[in-house]
Amino acid sequence: MCGIVGYKGKNNSIPVLLNGLKSLEYRGYDSAGIAFVKNKKVKIIKNIGRVSILESSIDSNEFSNIGIAHTRWATHGKVNKVNAHPHRVGKITLVHNGIIENYDEIKNKLSSYKLKSTTDTEILCAYIDYLYSKNHNMLEVLNKLKDDIKGSYALVIINDDEIDSLYAIRKNSPLIVASNDNEFYLASDMPALIKYTNKYMLLDNDEIVKISDNIYIYDKSLKEINKKILTFEGTSNDAMKCGYEHFMLKEIHEEPKVINNILSYYVTDNHFNENMPNFKNYKEIYFVGCGSAAYTADIAKKVFEKYVNVKCEVFLASEYRYQKHFYTKKTLVIFISQSGETADTLEALRITKNDGIDTLALVNVVGSSIAREADKTLYIKAGPEIAVATTKAFVAQYMLLTLIALKMSNNEKYLCDYKSLEKRLEKVFKIDYIKYANKIYKSNNAFFIGRQIDYGLCEEGSLKLKEISYINSSAFASGELKHGTISLIENKTPVISIITDEDISLKTISNIKEVHTRGAYSLFITTLDIDGDFYDDKIKVDNINFILNPILVVSVLQLLAYNVAKLKGEDIDKPRNLAKSVTVE
Ligand code: G6P
Repeated sequence: MCGIVGYKGKNNSIPVLLNGLKSLEYRGYDSAGIAFVKNKKVKIIKNIGRVSILESSIDSNEFSNIGIAHTRWATHGKVNKVNAHPHRVGKITLVHNGIIENYDEIKNKLSSYKLKSTTDTEILCAYIDYLYSKNHNMLEVLNKLKDDIKGSYALVIINDDEIDSLYAIRKNSPLIVASNDNEFYLASDMPALIKYTNKYMLLDNDEIVKISDNIYIYDKSLKEINKKILTFEGTSNDAMKCGYEHFMLKEIHEEPKVINNILSYYVTDNHFNENMPNFKNYKEIYFVGCGSAAYTADIAKKVFEKYVNVKCEVFLASEYRYQKHFYTKKTLVIFISQSGETADTLEALRITKNDGIDTLALVNVVGSSIAREADKTLYIKAGPEIAVATTKAFVAQYMLLTLIALKMSNNEKYLCDYKSLEKRLEKVFKIDYIKYANKIYKSNNAFFIGRQIDYGLCEEGSLKLKEISYINSSAFASGELKHGTISLIENKTPVISIITDEDISLKTISNIKEVHTRGAYSLFITTLDIDGDFYDDKIKVDNINFILNPILVVSVLQLLAYNVAKLKGEDIDKPRNLAKSVTVE
């Protein structure tokens, strides 16, 4: 987590760094800070809270053409100004994204240093200064980190002795480098730079960058290397709300476009094209992810079981890592991650590869660690997602999983139905959610109930609601409710029920009745023509088929959560305590 930016060029670094940080706030927003060089000296400004607070504390006349900046998601050390980055010790000023695991061991070597913060980063900063005091060669100093430091880091560094240069290095945390007309940039992610360039280079682990009159990149043996220049597919609109009140709302409305992107890449004239591999030789599929990425798999699993007739299991990456596995040579493990940097998912991937099992990654961010390390990677083509709560990427992950299932089962007859999603989603967007949100937003608790594929949808709907509205919400397999949880149902407790699967609809209706008769506010979401006296309100969406109905329903759930959070006046795009890219375990 945390976002970092660096700039050197002919223009003022400060607006470049602040703009960059604003588009990296999805990586954390506990505090923000900037360091820039003025009259050959480093000036540091930092503040608790958002980048906008930092911005308002910087004199608009300040000018510097070299600087570094950071937005923090606190891991090590409380949220306060001292712990905010940049950190400065001796001659070294730096920003850090990652976590230093052996900070205690490193600290023991630094008895002569008086540290001010309680962060692992300041220890690392002191350690670099310590190494530099013994060997005045920054490249050699940074090259030594790979042997001495356990954990992850992307660092951008200013050294007082080379005040006109920036140094950078990464290990297991992302960092990109870019240039445009003698202006040089470093950032955690491309949206930070899209205003200035769409060409960039991806750094590999342990590579070192020096930016002086140009960009110089060195490998582990300190040999200068050339890196491939990549083109970022996004546009500057991706980093802007384009008239929408929130990124979350904008990104939900982008779902039809994302669906069409995926379709046009993997399908031609209602047939799979060469971009879609066939995994039909696998007899067992494991899905691994965190948060929504695991829920998308819970839903897709039902499609695999029904159409591919293959054994599937879904694992939370944080659990998968520590449990025993009984894979066979016919097991395929699919890692799902929007960011491609989630630490638990990445580590689970490494463990699986180490066990000699085939891996496939479904990733959004091109060139991210998971995308690079998996045996095979398919991109979900959702474009940059800025709101912390995932929406369009969730839809894209699910959609791509369903295409993989259809390809494996040699079943192309459903492909034409995907095209109708666009107009059906437009209908979903037009529903008046405020009237339902009004009956939910004052509640302390809410429940989502459904069976089988609908239970997976409940998990995602419940997560969306709690992460952005802070209502304590839980998802239940509806048959399970009466085994304890029903005791929590009180007068007007919102119970949101979902039925898309006709086969089990009567069973779920019985469960809805159980809570409705106990006073719950029953909001029924369905694709089917079902009426009755078991709900207070019903949201009916189109009935396409078993595979695609979840896309319409999840969009309803996203918009419902959005409208509840809006009524509560919450900070929808940046919910408290969260970060979009979770690069700690
Ligand atoms: C965080 C985000 C979630 C996301 C999860 C997995 O918790 O807040 O929205 O589902 O990480 O992220 P990934 O990038 O691996 O999909």
